[in-house]
Amino acid sequence: MVLTNGNEMFKAARDGQYAIGAFNTNNLEWTRAILAAGQATNTPILIQTSMGAGKYMGGYKLVQNLVANTIESMNITVPVVMHLDHGNYEAAKEAIEAGYNSVMFDGHDLPFEENLEKTKEIVKLAHAKGISVEGEVGSIGGEEDGIVGAGELADVEEAKQLAATGVDYLAVGIGNIHGVYPENWTGLNFDRLKELADAIDTPLVLHGGSGIPKEQIVKAISMGIAKVNVNTEQQIAWSDAVKEYYNAGNDKKEKGFDPRKVLAPGTKAIQDTVESRIDWFGTPSI
Ligand code: 13P
Repeated sequence: MVLTNGNEMFKAARDGQYAIGAFNTNNLEWTRAILAAGQATNTPILIQTSMGAGKYMGGYKLVQNLVANTIESMNITVPVVMHLDHGNYEAAKEAIEAGYNSVMFDGHDLPFEENLEKTKEIVKLAHAKGISVEGEVGSIGGEEDGIVGAGELADVEEAKQLAATGVDYLAVGIGNIHGVYPENWTGLNFDRLKELADAIDTPLVLHGGSGIPKEQIVKAISMGIAKVNVNTEQQIAWSDAVKEYYNAGNDKKEKGFDPRKVLAPGTKAIQDTVESRIDWFGTPSI
């Protein structure tokens, strides 16, 4: 079974001190590029949609079908987890119904008690169907699809309580930010990561993986991060490749305006970016 939940995969990653990349998709080409990178490196991969991307693509059911059918048509054989990124309560329930293998319930903007209660409910619903759940403690900085976080550090006591709900992985705020890191960013807070990792065995998730220097990512993985989310780097790689195609006047050469030709370099750039991050994360081939 290629499509699978992330339970064992991420536990093994935390135990083995490596991470599995979680890459956001936006359309058919992105889906193909991410799956191709997993297959080319022969490593497990997690493909995810934010709520915004899910809406853009036509809903969770369509996304789930797209990923499942693309896996089949590309003869993908590595394990793939289909995951909802930063879902609110309703979105998490919808994605569970649509057949996702894994959902994030992001209750960081709720009062902590409510985050805890709703996380418990999602865990119950998801686990009854063999679906994994990611929780979040301490908001991730920056903005992604309208989800804005100030980037506070995760509280260790709150992390323990969220871990006790049975979430399969937990996103922790350790100074990480979604999107492009500002010049004055001070880096990941390894002291807080150590406190969190000492307190709980749950595989930990690093959001905002784009733009963090490789040494910091490698160190964070050695300390308990088992899932690293990357989105912006693929977007930039895609955008640069498309720009280069037009700047070189390729659209004017031999039917270069054909979308299949226009989209090919961007798709390749996404695949290359994903493969390079799989290498950084030390994901072992299967
Ligand atoms: P970046 O866009 O900063 O890589 O963050 C991705 C992410 O954390 C998705 O949840």
